[in-house]
Amino acid sequence: MTSHTPSNEPPNGESPAPNAPVLREGPEPSEKRAPVPFWLIILAAVIIFWAGIHLALNSGGFRADVYNPSLVSWSGGGSGGPAVAPDPKVIGKRLYSQNCAVCHQGSGMGVAGQFPPLVASEWVVGGAWVGDNHLVKILLAGMQGPIQVKGNTYNNAMPPWSQLKDDQIAAILTYIRSEWGNAAVPITADYVKTVRAASADRKDPWTQKELKAIPAETIPAGGAAPAAPAALAPAAPPAA
Ligand code: HEC
Repeated sequence: MTSHTPSNEPPNGESPAPNAPVLREGPEPSEKRAPVPFWLIILAAVIIFWAGIHLALNSGGFRADVYNPSLVSWSGGGSGGPAVAPDPKVIGKRLYSQNCAVCHQGSGMGVAGQFPPLVASEWVVGGAWVGDNHLVKILLAGMQGPIQVKGNTYNNAMPPWSQLKDDQIAAILTYIRSEWGNAAVPITADYVKTVRAASADRKDPWTQKELKAIPAETIPAGGAAPAAPAALAPAAPPAA
């Protein structure tokens, strides 16, 4: 028995007549989503990674009192703008704990017979012949030999701190001059700079005897540093 399967397709394979116009049109246009290019994903990852590192290194833990020594100059100048200057006492306290407390103690009381106290010390707040210049000089070059502090004699050695920057030394000194009941005017970075330049050739630790021979300078309460000593003036050109 022969059965003929009905088909829309003509036997010669041509498109069936009713669909022909539709097929000729081609597919309807539609929105497509292409996958994000691989290089773009990598680029985004690199930027996010860099941003994370940058934040980690430069945010200072998002603390308000952060001190970034390479960017911030709290002693004046600075890059301008509305940024609030960090409190030198906060910085000074931190630097004091790191550098000085091991000998002079967090209390500033020192260790009897070994490390003299800073509390109410004439060397810190000023005394009969001790000036602010002496204090800065001790910090920059260190000190050795017999020294009288508040009527007691010590004979030991203090290392120099010349590796600290002007504003760091100023912060430490400002801190020890205003802590533990001490009340002397702040030491500015400019003043440290002046004293550093004036005694640039001094490498050995000072002795009390040597310091006593240097006239005392005192920073006026107004805060302005004393005028630079004559030694700071640029050298005169040699006479022709
Ligand atoms: C290794 C111990 C040691 C460290 C650290 C040290 N000092 Fe001293 N400091 C001494 C000694 C010892 C003397 C007395 C020196 C002498 O006998 O001639 C002294 C003397 C002083 C004096 C003068 C005397 C007085 O008591 O007022 C001051 C001011 C001073 N130090 C401040 C500092 C500051 C600020 C720091 C931190 C930057 C510091 N010292 C770090 C041991 C130390």
